[in-house]
Amino acid sequence: MTGTGQDWYEDAVVYTLDVKTFNDSNGDGWGDFRGLIEKLDYIDDLGVDCIWLRPFYPSPLRDNGYDVADYRDVDDRLGSLSDFEEFTDRAHERGIRVLTDVVFNHTSMDHGWFQAAREDPESEYHDYYLWTSHVEDAYDTINIFPEYEDGVWSYDEVAGKHYFHQFYHHQPDLNVANPKVRDEMHDILRFWLDKGADGFRIDAAHPMLMQKGHNGTEEGIWLFKEMRDVVKAEKDHAILLAEADDQPEHLDHYFGDGDTFDLLFNFVLNAHMTYAAGVKDTWPLHRADEILPDISDVGHWANFLRNHDEWNLLKLPDDALQHAREYFGPDDDSSWIFGRGHRLRLADLYDGDHDRIAMAHSLLFSYPGTPVILSGDEIGMGSDLWLDERESVRTPMQWDDSENGGFSEADREDCYNPPIAHGRFSYEHINVADQREHPESLLSRIQRIVATRQDNLELVDGSFHIADSGHRDVFVHRLDTDDTAFIFAHNFADESRESVLQWEVPDADTTQELGPGDYHVEDGGVTFLLDACDYVWLRGDKSHWD
Ligand code: GLC
Repeated sequence: MTGTGQDWYEDAVVYTLDVKTFNDSNGDGWGDFRGLIEKLDYIDDLGVDCIWLRPFYPSPLRDNGYDVADYRDVDDRLGSLSDFEEFTDRAHERGIRVLTDVVFNHTSMDHGWFQAAREDPESEYHDYYLWTSHVEDAYDTINIFPEYEDGVWSYDEVAGKHYFHQFYHHQPDLNVANPKVRDEMHDILRFWLDKGADGFRIDAAHPMLMQKGHNGTEEGIWLFKEMRDVVKAEKDHAILLAEADDQPEHLDHYFGDGDTFDLLFNFVLNAHMTYAAGVKDTWPLHRADEILPDISDVGHWANFLRNHDEWNLLKLPDDALQHAREYFGPDDDSSWIFGRGHRLRLADLYDGDHDRIAMAHSLLFSYPGTPVILSGDEIGMGSDLWLDERESVRTPMQWDDSENGGFSEADREDCYNPPIAHGRFSYEHINVADQREHPESLLSRIQRIVATRQDNLELVDGSFHIADSGHRDVFVHRLDTDDTAFIFAHNFADESRESVLQWEVPDADTTQELGPGDYHVEDGGVTFLLDACDYVWLRGDKSHWD
């Protein structure tokens, strides 16, 4: 493990995967924990030291497992509780920490709590949810899946009342103001820590703070402070990572006084960075820097290029959002979803260009904050728009060019999602085995980017400055600590660029740590010579300057 103390997550590199689609050990078409254990060496070789597992609990899977039917078990298609424990043991042996995904905004309708709640209004579980008999007068707001749901209240025949849901109608919101609900959440957190988890991604943290049905928001952020106290009391190194796609001006709120969330996904940077590298223009990175709050005293960002959901563009200005809709999506608009994003992977957005994908990862890893890699992006996997909704970006990992890409020995139609078998993103063309062999493959380049960051962890504490590179399509920035200056140059253009900077960098004490680009230092300034999509990381030892 890179850091051994409580702040280990500041230095970590996170890899997110879904057990269902990673590796199937028993040939039933579903990835499982035993299959994941077999692939731990691969994850370790990639250089990451933290795995965020997406939900693996019993679930009817109407929302990919974010509809939990039992919080204290493993879906038996994915394995057992003891498989989970063995997995965390094996991961820890390699110095890899494990975060699990907990969905506390809502349960599945199939959860025993909801079943009891709808059947008996006198049951203690009734108040686990939010109900109204007067829907016309009830609090109203926008549903998060507007293409699929008309609103936030649905009628339940069994209860004879409407219940509140911000997501799908099969995901009734939990009444987080009810202390019994919070006690359940705390027990669930303790349960998984006891089984080996090192912390949690808290799903839908923003909706958890919204007004829920007739309850106001007075419970507020202390909901998460309470969770943090529970978690730290159990394991002092355990952390909470928030999924809270809130407005930039509210984001620092999630860190409280440094006593709430440890990490927060940076959706603002996500929209701007992935867009900027794709449209070959650096203005979005300048804008992101302007609109993001300074959180350096209270917490850390978790930065990412893509995740398992739609690529949400709402944080871009309207004209850029419209531009992104047309620029990145297919002409028939079949990738556009929820009025806010593309259900495409990074490789689709960048037209399969491995140089651009590598450059974007280099940029991600050169930013302050904890980088998160979406499994499959390290080899440039694509999406399958024939699949429903966001399942397009959740196809099985492509290990080699054998049947089903080596994911499973089951028939293709029995796989949880069919492996991509045709086209330029098929497992025949894009797979781990192939890329492992080649030092210049995308996988090898991303491995080097991870390793270089791990070798230069001082950059995590550096103060961030953007330079005027002299080109709209070249991004140069710097991270300074007391002793070390890191300078990064990224060329977004499809052509070569020369960028001259007057930043003080004495030649003798400057070394190139990474990247296919070149540079030279003259008269205290530095000139970068960058081919299309090149990147350069420089490191200067400041103690020798002056
Ligand atoms: C989060 C998950 C998403 C899920 C939603 C509802 O946004 O990332 O996949 O659909 O929560 O639980």
